[in-house]
Amino acid sequence: MLTTVDLRCEYARTPLGIDACPPRLSWQLRATIRGQRQSAYQLRAATSPDLLARDAPDLLDTGKVASSAQMVAYAGPELQSRERVWWQVRAWDHADEPGPYSEITWFETGLLNPEDWHAEWIGFSAGWNGRALYFRTPLHLDKPVRTARAYVSGLGYYELRLNGRKVGDHVLDPGTTSYDKRVLYVTYDIAPYLRAGAGLGGENVLAAIVGHGWYGAPKLLLQVEITFEDGSIFEVLGQTGPWQVGLGPIVGNSIYGGELYDARLEIPGWDMPTTADGDRPVSGQNAASEGSEADTAQWVRPNVVDGPGGTLVAQALEPIRVVQTLAPVTVSTPRPDVFVCDLGQNIAGWARLRCQGSRGSRVTLRFAESLYPDGTVNQENLRSAAATDVYILKGDGVEIWEPRFTYHGFRYVQVEGYPGALTQEAVEGRLVRSDTHPAAEFTCSNELLNRIHRMVWWTEATNQHSIPTDCPQRDERMGWLNDLGARTEEAIINFDLSRFFPKWVADIHDAQDPHTGAITDTAPYRWGTRPADPVSVSYLLIAWMVYVHYGDTRSMYEHYEGFKAWVEYLASRAQDHIVTYSYYGDWAPPVEESVGGSQGTSAVSLNTPGALVSTGYYYYAARLLSQMAEVLDKRADALHYAERARKIAAAYHEHFYDPATGGYGSNNQACNALSAYLGLVPEHLQDRVIENLVHDVLVLHDGHLTTGNLCTKYLLEVLTHNHHADVAYRVVTQETYPSWGYMLANGATTVWERWEHATGGGMNSHNHPMYASVGAWLCRALGGIMADPKGPGFARFDIRPHPAGDLTHARCSLETVRGRIESAWMLEGERLTLQVTVPVGSNARICVPVPSKGDRFRITEAQVPVWQDGPMDSVPGLESVHAEPHCIAFAVGSGSYTFVREPNYDNHI
Ligand code: BGC
Repeated sequence: MLTTVDLRCEYARTPLGIDACPPRLSWQLRATIRGQRQSAYQLRAATSPDLLARDAPDLLDTGKVASSAQMVAYAGPELQSRERVWWQVRAWDHADEPGPYSEITWFETGLLNPEDWHAEWIGFSAGWNGRALYFRTPLHLDKPVRTARAYVSGLGYYELRLNGRKVGDHVLDPGTTSYDKRVLYVTYDIAPYLRAGAGLGGENVLAAIVGHGWYGAPKLLLQVEITFEDGSIFEVLGQTGPWQVGLGPIVGNSIYGGELYDARLEIPGWDMPTTADGDRPVSGQNAASEGSEADTAQWVRPNVVDGPGGTLVAQALEPIRVVQTLAPVTVSTPRPDVFVCDLGQNIAGWARLRCQGSRGSRVTLRFAESLYPDGTVNQENLRSAAATDVYILKGDGVEIWEPRFTYHGFRYVQVEGYPGALTQEAVEGRLVRSDTHPAAEFTCSNELLNRIHRMVWWTEATNQHSIPTDCPQRDERMGWLNDLGARTEEAIINFDLSRFFPKWVADIHDAQDPHTGAITDTAPYRWGTRPADPVSVSYLLIAWMVYVHYGDTRSMYEHYEGFKAWVEYLASRAQDHIVTYSYYGDWAPPVEESVGGSQGTSAVSLNTPGALVSTGYYYYAARLLSQMAEVLDKRADALHYAERARKIAAAYHEHFYDPATGGYGSNNQACNALSAYLGLVPEHLQDRVIENLVHDVLVLHDGHLTTGNLCTKYLLEVLTHNHHADVAYRVVTQETYPSWGYMLANGATTVWERWEHATGGGMNSHNHPMYASVGAWLCRALGGIMADPKGPGFARFDIRPHPAGDLTHARCSLETVRGRIESAWMLEGERLTLQVTVPVGSNARICVPVPSKGDRFRITEAQVPVWQDGPMDSVPGLESVHAEPHCIAFAVGSGSYTFVREPNYDNHI
């Protein structure tokens, strides 16, 4: 029997304010016995949970649908704006036994039509002088409230407040976009914040603070809809009613620069209704005992201002939140009255300050990734980002403060001007990031690899801020498409990016030139060049990986024409299928492999020709496009781009293969790894190319890499999948330069941008995810969990672990849309145990590695012999068995399996 759990709508649990119509509903399955499959489902929906509980769904009842699908489009009546739909689902197993109905869940639509927006953007035409704007309006509610919603956007960032409380827990909201194309809005249920009733009991104050963010002059869009118990509706719009706008204690706010907060300018109770005795209660943070109502009396009416121009779209990805608080591990005093707090971990976010002192004292917080030898912070590599927050005390007891409209990438906080002695409790690190869920766990017997995994995790975790950023600390924090070519797989393994990544594909699309098809180096476009470097395959690759990992075809479908236009743009720049333009290529390899004095503090590769990389990526994009066309049933395109890819491959080989060396380009690691990874090497030359690669790593570089941001990933993959996992292992476990171990040996807690340990003024971020691509290798090569594009959403996958080097065990798990996959292996002498969990709804091919020497062996599963010189008994759940060159592959259905491979003792008699 199957139970249905973890019901989601558009990959979210109970999303409020969606606009994807019809939304897709999905569920996971649980079973108690192996090999269970869903043979049918029934989904029903209603306008209230009671109707479902009473078996009377009034919106949808699919009846029993014979299907194994675990994600279906909502097929009820066409959805209207502001509609709440309750739903549940049940499933039949392969023996046609129905399971129970799931718990009841819901989704709610936002504002689906432009006409639903009655609010207009408001701001302060008189100017804002770099300060945050504070908006407020009283709100009198004299009847009981049934539902209350706020639909809000504020650029650059807003904080919505009601009756002195922050509404929700988002920070740095909404997610950044190309505001002239698309603006995200957020829906809140504000009923719990309201006070309704007769007289003063029904007084409320609705307020918002709006900061600069990635925009310019702050502006607010706010539409509040309150439905009373009697059915009447009350609408509050930003531009109508007694609104006021004014300035407050946030005197300066800038993402790169930091925040300047003068607590003396707080207006106590500015966002609170007046109580019966005429006082305003204190409103939590930023409230103070001083000030008076008169302060807001001087505020003026906001102006209706031009909107940013973009279409309003519901924010459908996880908001940025404060997700963790870290206490400093040490506090030092490098100079009198200068304190330096070390969090022990490089993070993204800010510090929460606790202090007590005289009015007007000024505490300065400087953020940095490294220290000078004298123990003070070194901010040189932040370039023009001041990364400095200032708090001016109001002098009223213990003051606790944290900023709102900035964030920093840092491990160290230098505190100057702190009143008194700074204790460990005075400063806390606040980890701020898009609240995406971690998806993978990895551990193994080599502690260095575990540390690399943690370093990768932190790097990825601290570079998701509604876009995948290149770094969180310096004057950049852009979504660089080139880096994502290598980072995508690591990111999608370590985090659930089912909502985050499609949003960024749309960002890339927004920045695409509709006439030429050219995309931009960064999205939203803020830096770099247009047209983008040809390596920017991430536009297509992310949509493809979202399909492979989550079974989601929407990004591919929606942006297909954009992908095609990019491929055609590259074609327009190609001569005889060779693309020669290149800016970055295999960017930032070890400095001795770089062109001295090239852009980005010598980051252009000396030995990896730009044209080779650009042409390789043109091929990659054309091939992905063909694969997508196939999935989307665009047969003609599938054939057309497959043929294009074939031609590019032929030209590439012709142009870049050197029969004298048996390798591509300069025959270095990057050229050969890229060629082999993309499948550009004709089969009869494959062994030679791989031999060259191995020779280069082992003989010429003593087990070290020479690759840049892209080809590092390919080097490890290519070695591993050509039976040289030991060589890849050697590269990854190095502790001398250049390597991840070298970074760790030099105190890294996040992955560096350069293989060198640099701390000067150039391009050397200490938290840069491009080299975190090794994280994918840990889970795929060592953990063995490999997605299979032929079974998207992990309907099919491989477990193919490589017990490389001196490893004796490894364990990896991955949360997928079908449930948790687990893979754990252990070597005890010649005995290998491999334990695997396959979620219901998935089929896996479990590859039990076998000795290559030709030794005889026996494999059991749950102690039943399943292989000895050939397949033996079958066990439940096990569908077929076959031998591959280095493993025995067992095709299995869902369930948990324990395979043991041991020497066949008959050998030893
Ligand atoms: C970014 C990198 C990117 C590079 C390309 C840098 O400034 O931080 O991540 O690869 O530019 O030029």
